[in-house]
Amino acid sequence: MVDNGRPPREGQEKPAADRAAVELRGVAKEFTLSRRREPLRVLDGIDLTIARGEFVALLGPSGCGKSTVLRMIAGLEAPTAGSVQVEGGAPSALIAQHRLGVAFQDSALLPWASAWDNIALPFRLAGRPVPEQRIRSLLETVGLEGFARARPKQLSGGMRQRISIARSMALDPDVLLLDEPFGALDAVTRRRLNLELGAVWAEQRTTTVLVTHDVAEAVLLADRVVVMTGRPGSLAHVELIPAPRPRGEDFTRSHAFHEVVDRLVSLLDDPSGGRQ
Ligand SMILES: Nc1ncnc2c1ncn2[C@@H]1O[C@H](COP(=O)(O)OP(=O)(O)O)[C@@H](O)[C@H]1O
Ligand SMILES: [Mg+2]
Repeated sequence: MVDNGRPPREGQEKPAADRAAVELRGVAKEFTLSRRREPLRVLDGIDLTIARGEFVALLGPSGCGKSTVLRMIAGLEAPTAGSVQVEGGAPSALIAQHRLGVAFQDSALLPWASAWDNIALPFRLAGRPVPEQRIRSLLETVGLEGFARARPKQLSGGMRQRISIARSMALDPDVLLLDEPFGALDAVTRRRLNLELGAVWAEQRTTTVLVTHDVAEAVLLADRVVVMTGRPGSLAHVELIPAPRPRGEDFTRSHAFHEVVDRLVSLLDDPSGGRQ
């Protein structure tokens, strides 16, 4: 058993394996910018069901509402219409039980705390003892075993991102939400971390929703790539990526990979797919 410090879920049946991990039904989102103006409709008619253990990438141009979808799954925004359920309940229920892991772009690490303490933070916030072995293994997972005592400013951007990903996985969450976690990195570091995350994920199979505007990143990591268009944002296309795991550099060099990437890139350029 994984020692994640999580107390047993008393009185709680383990949900049926076939129940969706995340379900958005008829979701719309509007933002009211000022009282005088019409509300801004950011998302419309979003239906998306994510299975347990599935990795879904949300791909789309800047401003199409990807982060808003993720923030609704995280319970940070409420939908204007429709419903968002995570593990069969409101997102807030999952958050209260510390079963949701979140890593967003530029996720703030505590600047005065070591890598170790930053990764231990979710345990402290949950009021649980910090399991040393688990922190050690998380540092190892993200390749930072020699940097436990280092502070964020002593580390590179890529290393800081790895800490925030390790932190999001610390409590072995049921659902992992990643919003452009590699957004601020150079292309080489980004690809390396993509491969690392893919390898970690192939072992753990945590239900994951990754928001990205990087097509290759989405295809490398996801079981399903959902292409969004704006505005208002809607789901334009869903692409299954059936390649076996673990997926390494062989996959990124394969014809199948480039064929899918090219097709999704042209879809993003012209979401109607040539239809008018
Ligand atoms: N809190 C907010 N208030 C007003 N408008 C917002 C808010 N959050 C997002 N928006 C707007 O919603 C649209 C979608 O934003 P976002 O979900 O961040 O897009 P993406 O992540 O795809 O770039 C953008 O036009 C953005 O300006
Ligand atoms: Mg965004």
